[in-house]
Amino acid sequence: MSAPPTPVLAIESISKDFGGLRAIDNLSLDVRSGEILGIVGPNGAGKSVLINLITGFYRVSAGTIRFKDDEISGLSRHAISRLGITCTFQNVRLFRRMSVLENVLVANKGHAASPFASLFGVGRNKRDIDQAMEFICFMGLSERADQLAGTLAYGDARRLEIARALAGEPRLLLLDEPAAGMNEEETAALIDDIRASRTRVEAIVLVEHDMTLICELSDRMVAIDYGRKMAEGTTEEVFADPLFTKAYLGLEAGDLALENPHG
Ligand SMILES: Nc1ncnc2c1ncn2[C@@H]1O[C@H](COP(=O)(O)OP(=O)(O)OP(=O)(O)O)[C@@H](O)[C@H]1O
Ligand SMILES: [Mg+2]
Repeated sequence: MSAPPTPVLAIESISKDFGGLRAIDNLSLDVRSGEILGIVGPNGAGKSVLINLITGFYRVSAGTIRFKDDEISGLSRHAISRLGITCTFQNVRLFRRMSVLENVLVANKGHAASPFASLFGVGRNKRDIDQAMEFICFMGLSERADQLAGTLAYGDARRLEIARALAGEPRLLLLDEPAAGMNEEETAALIDDIRASRTRVEAIVLVEHDMTLICELSDRMVAIDYGRKMAEGTTEEVFADPLFTKAYLGLEAGDLALENPHG
């Protein structure tokens, strides 16, 4: 029997304290090659903190995070980004006064180290523009390439965020509530976009309250609450887990596809 493949990301017994608050509590999980791992949990469960620990925005208080052969807990955000980990944020973060094309251009892999050079048009050539346009078209935004990002409809802005993330050619893509604020139609389109994106990256971690999106896309799911793992497995297994259903039972009826805080 051959040994199981090394996970893309191995999170081992991590904790994160903010003063007296333990936001992540002795959490371990793996992200396997080729998979979309869904992360669910009630508001305040620690999902965004987990993403921020993986990207190095926060430092772990204890435990380790390995990405492939590298231990990344302790590395700077930029070092982690250079290794190929990129996230989109729960709240849209775009250069509002730049066009869609410019937003993607500054996110291009080659420009990651010097976005300002790209901002002022330095080193911007046809190849860069063609490349950026490829990601823009991939996310269905070709007709919006010249539009200022600040004037985009909400669904398009979220789509642009993903185009920017993909333009960095990440190996691991972390999406924090990509469907937040989207209507049903936009969410359905987003599901197709994320499904298509999986061929461009080694693995995707998807944090989401929208259960339709999570169930359609996740190969596996991890449910967390109070920073601890509450359930793990296929979506069916997690939905059958009493700890998981209990954590959600306190919510309003019919609210498994949770209302998002930005809608
Ligand atoms: N920078 C910080 N300083 C102090 N406490 C923080 C900080 N960031 C997050 N927290 C706390 O950590 C806990 C987990 O927050 P987190 O944002 O990860 O929740 P979440 O699962 O993403 O929730 P939501 O579904 O609402 O986005 C919360 O109690 C939050 O108040
Ligand atoms: Mg969050």
